[in-house]
Amino acid sequence: MAKTIIISNRLPVQLQISNGTISAIPSVGGLATGMKSVHSGGDSLWIGWSGLTDEETPEELESQIDNALAEHGSSKVKLTQKEVDGFYYGFSNRTVWPLFHYFLEYSEFEWESWEIYKSVNQKFADAILDNTNNDDVIWVHDYQLMLVPQMVREKRPNVSIGFFLHIPFPSFEIFRTLPWRKEILSGLLGSDLIGFHTYDYERHFLSSVRRLLGLEVSFNDIYLDDRVIKVDSFPMGIDYKKFNEAAMEHAQRDESQKSELQKRLDTHKESTPDAKFFLSIDRLDYTKGIAKRLNAFEYFLNKYPQYKEKVRLIILAVPSRSNVPQYQLLKKEIDELVGRINGELSTVSWTPIWYFYRSMPFDNLIDLYTTCDIAWLTPIRDGMNLVAKEYIATRTDKTGVLILSEMAGSANEMNESLLINPNNFEQIADTLDRAINMPQEEQQQRNSVLQKRLERYNVEKWANDFMNSLLNQKEKDRTYISRRLSVDLMNTVMKKYVSSKKRLVFLDYDGTLADFHKDPQMAKPDEQLYKLLDEIAAQENTDMYLISGRDKETFTKWFMHKGYNMIVEHGVWISQNGEDFRMLEKVKKDWMEKIHPVLDSFVDRTPGSFIEEKNYSLAWHYRKTDPDFGQKRAVELNTVLTSLIANDDLSVLNGNKVMEIKSSNVNKGRASMRVFSEHDYDFVFAIGDDWTDEFMFQELPEDAITVKVGRQKTHAKYFVDNTKNVRDILGRFADMH
Ligand code: ADP
Ligand code: G6P
Repeated sequence: MAKTIIISNRLPVQLQISNGTISAIPSVGGLATGMKSVHSGGDSLWIGWSGLTDEETPEELESQIDNALAEHGSSKVKLTQKEVDGFYYGFSNRTVWPLFHYFLEYSEFEWESWEIYKSVNQKFADAILDNTNNDDVIWVHDYQLMLVPQMVREKRPNVSIGFFLHIPFPSFEIFRTLPWRKEILSGLLGSDLIGFHTYDYERHFLSSVRRLLGLEVSFNDIYLDDRVIKVDSFPMGIDYKKFNEAAMEHAQRDESQKSELQKRLDTHKESTPDAKFFLSIDRLDYTKGIAKRLNAFEYFLNKYPQYKEKVRLIILAVPSRSNVPQYQLLKKEIDELVGRINGELSTVSWTPIWYFYRSMPFDNLIDLYTTCDIAWLTPIRDGMNLVAKEYIATRTDKTGVLILSEMAGSANEMNESLLINPNNFEQIADTLDRAINMPQEEQQQRNSVLQKRLERYNVEKWANDFMNSLLNQKEKDRTYISRRLSVDLMNTVMKKYVSSKKRLVFLDYDGTLADFHKDPQMAKPDEQLYKLLDEIAAQENTDMYLISGRDKETFTKWFMHKGYNMIVEHGVWISQNGEDFRMLEKVKKDWMEKIHPVLDSFVDRTPGSFIEEKNYSLAWHYRKTDPDFGQKRAVELNTVLTSLIANDDLSVLNGNKVMEIKSSNVNKGRASMRVFSEHDYDFVFAIGDDWTDEFMFQELPEDAITVKVGRQKTHAKYFVDNTKNVRDILGRFADMH
């Protein structure tokens, strides 16, 4: 039976050995806590690192370790101390983590750790290969394993692979600084589906793919070889029910059932009934802005001294990655800050900050969430931040105020919280004041909207959405990519070609017979092309047509002296046997006056773009523009034009980095069919690379051999990769072999 393989560096539990016995403690962090709920409910195997190095693991405990992990549906990848240092403490957490969170100055670029990152990723990929069948679905998680999808794809080309990044994907300007940027992108592109928490991360990723790899991206599909990779955003949810029900159970506990922590919290609440508790929970990580928060707290108490003795900040910082120097420095900084602020502001009856540096059991986490009046979660940069969602889920009476950083991914879905910029102390101080004084009805109103959303889009729904999208993508991939025109197929085509009585061959020009050039006039035919075309055109019973969107002046200059048949401007003009061009369609051109100024304004605002004026159409070229910006403008222009031409008989053709406006009754499909109906052809062939050629592919008769150059979505039956392959086909036609 097909199963889901979850693969991440962290497993749901971390193993520890003390006095020869193994214990499993739950992992912290959004990935492990979120996926745990998904994993426990389904048929999946979770592969990851146990938390122990080979050196820490006595051989005689190996099988016990395997059993302990098997209890959690998990299986281990073994890592040596050197590998953990280079892969985990090194490349993952000293290079990628800071860089992707915009802490450029913390990012170290070291070749040795990159080499270890690669070899450890290979170990994870091998573990997947050892544990999967072809029909299993593989779901790879997070920045530690970005090369794994490609490594698995190489060995299992047809397996379904999804990848989810739990941290931000930075803007191109940041990402480009990574020496191994292309390798990382290629690694990720081994997937069928790549998921991010937010649309911004998705947008940044697509921009890097376009700029660094030069791949064709259409909306959120990336075309690579014979695959289409989908990129989408899926904001991760929480196990809402688990948090909500735990909170309800806590509310019903009598004194004897309460935890020590809860009793202590209650005592303080009772002694100062109007005091407010602020809660801050994070892993101890510089991205979480804990030090900033402490400084902001001090600023707040100075700005609003009336709250002295009336508020208390509970800080829970969970130890994390403590072998990385930046984390050690941060720990020191926070210890000192807490000491200093408490030293300066405490009174006999009041300690402003309670600081816990430890991991806490789930039960205590719920105590804190349910007791604190205000959750203050203000990371400097955070992929998602699940703690914010967990806090809201535990507020069973709907009271409580969430102050959340705009820089957290979750801010996108939690508009009803109080959103702040973590660098703006003035705003933070005022927001804390507002939170303290927020009427209960307002709190309940806000939280009730938030709770509904979190309950609906919970972690299960998130995982299902991702999985369904992955399966659909695989299905789509199978159906809309045509077959490669292999040597065998080409041999069959040639048999038909040789034995047929009357042949019709349509050849598109740009992107098919010749490669694109930044200046269209430079993409001239070369001698080899002339020679091939001469030979085909000279064959008996063969009608060869060049069919193009180009203007008739250019084609007259390039080909008229050869006497080839030509259809230009998408079918407005035709020239047969070297005769002058005549009109194939009656078309109007009075609309041009209206459209030209619109295109002018786009040229003014889009450096590198230009207008090509043809006799019966206008084309806006954007090949020379910045790729992202050009694409954005093209979408904008499309919207503008669609409303402008609604009542005219015009259509907009989206070609390869060009948008063309022309009469609706003109297209290559119509033109090719008119030629086809002139004789009794028993062999029809059409080849082209872009959207405008799709009309031919669709309209020519069923038995026509239609070929797309490139691997985008197409109605053609076959595809080839590039113009060189086209020349090979022409060569075979020319030699008739
Ligand atoms: P990150 O993934 O960067 O650590 P998130 O806020 O997305 O940040 O996820 C943190 C997860 O770790 C939450 O699910 C939270 O419940 C859990 N967690 C946070 N603090 C503790 C703690 N002290 N003990 C146990 N689990 C914790
Ligand atoms: C973030 C990352 C996870 C990671 C977690 C805890 O949530 O996205 O991949 O597991 O932090 O960090 P750690 O280094 O302890 O695994």
